[in-house]
Amino acid sequence: MVNLVEGEKSREIIRRSREFMDILTQDVDVLPMVADRGEGVYVWDVDGKKYIDFSSGFAVVSLGHSNPKVIEAIEKQARKLVHFPLADFYHELGASVAEKLSKSCPGGGNKKVVFTNSGAEANEVAIKLARSSTKRGRILAFYGGFHGRTMGSLSLTASKSVQQLGFFPTMPGVIHAPFPNPFRNVWNIDGYEDPEELINRAISFIEDVIFKAYPPEEFAAVFIEPIQGEGGYVVPPRGFFHELFKIARKYGILIMDDEVQMGIGRTGKMWAIENYSVYPDSIQFGKAIANGIPLGGVIHRGDFGFVTLGQHSSTFGGNLIALSVAEVVLEETPKLLPNVERVGMHLGRRLSELMEEFEIIGDSRGIGLARAIEIVKPGKGKTPDPKKRDELLRECFKRGLLLIGCGESSVRIIPPLNVEIATVDRAVDILMEALNTVTE
Ligand SMILES: Cc1ncc(COP(=O)(O)O)c(C=O)c1O
Repeated sequence: MVNLVEGEKSREIIRRSREFMDILTQDVDVLPMVADRGEGVYVWDVDGKKYIDFSSGFAVVSLGHSNPKVIEAIEKQARKLVHFPLADFYHELGASVAEKLSKSCPGGGNKKVVFTNSGAEANEVAIKLARSSTKRGRILAFYGGFHGRTMGSLSLTASKSVQQLGFFPTMPGVIHAPFPNPFRNVWNIDGYEDPEELINRAISFIEDVIFKAYPPEEFAAVFIEPIQGEGGYVVPPRGFFHELFKIARKYGILIMDDEVQMGIGRTGKMWAIENYSVYPDSIQFGKAIANGIPLGGVIHRGDFGFVTLGQHSSTFGGNLIALSVAEVVLEETPKLLPNVERVGMHLGRRLSELMEEFEIIGDSRGIGLARAIEIVKPGKGKTPDPKKRDELLRECFKRGLLLIGCGESSVRIIPPLNVEIATVDRAVDILMEALNTVTE
C-alpha cells in the first residue's frame, strides 16, 4: 500500500486518517497527497515536496492558495466579529454580498439571495423554493449530473452509482433525462458532427417519453449544470439549453441552474450559463464563492421565494468570515475573466494537440479554465479506460502535478483563474511526459 508516498510524515498522516476518518473518497494508491501549505498555484506536502495544483481544491480556490487579499479579509473580519446569525439579525456584509450577487446575474430584474454553507445545501434550498412556489412536486434532472450528497440533492445526482449505494429511498418525484453529451451519448450520435440531431434526440426524449409518462404540469423545476462537472466536464451542444428552456417555459417549469462548480468565472464568464445566452430562474453557487471558506447559496428571481417567516433558515449560512472573503472574490473575479478566456484558449489548444498525439485521449473539451481530457482504450474507439486514467493521475502526481479525475475515465484540468500561460505550459509538459510513460 501507498508505495507512492516518499515521505515519512505523509505516510503516518495517511495511516491515521484511514484509521479514524470515515468519508474518504480518494483511493490512496492513486493520489496520496498530504498537504501542508499553499501559495498561488502551488502546494507543498508535509515532507516538503512542491506541486503545481491544477485541481484548485476541487474548483474552490479560484484566486489561488493563500491569496493575500483573502488572508487580509479573513484576519480583519476575525478581529471584528466572527459570527452573527443573519437568520435573525442584519449585517452590512450580508446586504452587500447579496446585492452584488443579485446584480451579477444574467437577465436583469430583481433577484434575491439565500445563503447556505455548501453546494448541496444550495440545491436543497432550490428544491424547497421550486416546490413551495409552484406547489408542484416532481423534478427533472439529468443523467451524469451531480448536485450533492444530502438526501434531496442526492436524489438529483445521477453521476456514479456508488454515490447512491445503500441510501435508497431518496426523495421521490425525481425523473432523469439523458444529457446530450457530444462525445458519448445513449443514441451513439457524434454530437460534434451533428449537434442538431443530438439536441433533437435529447429534447424529444423529454417531450415524447418523460412527459408522456409523467404530467409535465406536475414538474416544479428542471435542475441543470451548464457543464456537467463531476460527470466529466461535459459541454452540451450550444443550442441545447435554448430548446430545453423553451419546453420548460411552455409548462411553467422553473429552471434551477446549478453553478456550484462552473460558476464564478471558471468558464470566462461570471456565470457559465452566460455562454448559452439563456436566463435561468435561479443560480445555485458554492465552492469558489469564498475561495475555501464554506459558503453557498441560491440567487433566485424576486417574484418567487420563501413567503412565510421562518419557512427556511440556517445558523451558519452567510457566516461573516465567509462573506468577507466573498466580497474579495466578487471584486477580483471580473478582473480575471479576460485571463480565463486567454489562458483557457491556450490550454484548450495544447490539450487538443495532445489528443492528436496520444490515441488514449478520446476527447478534449471544456470552456475557459474548465477543461478535461477523456482517457479511452487505444484504437480510436470510445471505450473508457479508468485504470489508465488513474495511472496517468499517478504519473502526474509523481512528477509534481496535481490533477484529479472526473466522470468515468476523464482528467479535469482546472487551475486557478489567475494562472499564467508559462505555468500552463509547464503543467502540460508534465502531463505529456506522464502520457508517454503510461503508453510506453
Ligand atoms: C455541480 C455541483 N453541485 C453541487 C455540489 C455539491 O457541493 P458541496 O460538496 O459543497 O456540497 C457539487 C460538488 O462537487 C457540484 O459540483
